[in-house]
Amino acid sequence: MSQLIDDVMDFARGRLGSGIAVSIEPIDDIDERLRAVVDELKTANASREVVTEFSLSARVHCDAARIQQLLANLLGNALTHGADNQAVVVRTVAEGTEAVISVSNGGEPIPSHMLLKVFEPYWRPPSSSPGGGLGLGLYICKQIVEAHGGTVEVCSSASEGTCFTARLPLLR
Ligand SMILES: Nc1ncnc2c1ncn2[C@@H]1O[C@H](COP(=O)(O)OP(=O)(O)OP(=O)(O)O)[C@@H](O)[C@H]1O
Ligand SMILES: [Mg+2]
Repeated sequence: MSQLIDDVMDFARGRLGSGIAVSIEPIDDIDERLRAVVDELKTANASREVVTEFSLSARVHCDAARIQQLLANLLGNALTHGADNQAVVVRTVAEGTEAVISVSNGGEPIPSHMLLKVFEPYWRPPSSSPGGGLGLGLYICKQIVEAHGGTVEVCSSASEGTCFTARLPLLR
């Protein structure tokens, strides 16, 4: 319940034009902080395989709590909406001047005409059953990434599965 209220508050802040507030600091152990998020979600989903490939050893100027929230949303989605008999893969890497965080899962792909819609607030596919989430998670991810001057994108196909990739400038 508290998470739902936090999501709605983040949505309201985003909508009021001020965007999600971030407090940027130089962070030297972002991989460790992201690993803590993975460990927490693994504990809550003990039967699921989550593979991690962490190699973001660079310093990242970011709001670490917000980046943890970003990963929690993306990984939570992969576990909820992906196939439960396929591993979820979380990768972090520094590429040039960017930190790249990606989460991929198998399962039914998101139809191509819905790929942009998934980032809209309160959007869930017409086929989704009632009683799930609010459809705010990816909107909040986009707000967090944009507040850091970064981007988030999704690729989805039957052969490759679904992959969300966030790119954040290392320096801010
Ligand atoms: N990793 C994924 N694999 C397949 N479909 C996904 C994935 N992530 C999101 N989706 C689709 O996009 C929709 C919107 O995702 P979003 O995170 O915004 O909302 P939600 O997960 O339904 O609810 P909330 O995050 O608010 O609890 C989901 O309902 C789902 O249909
Ligand atoms: Mg979600």
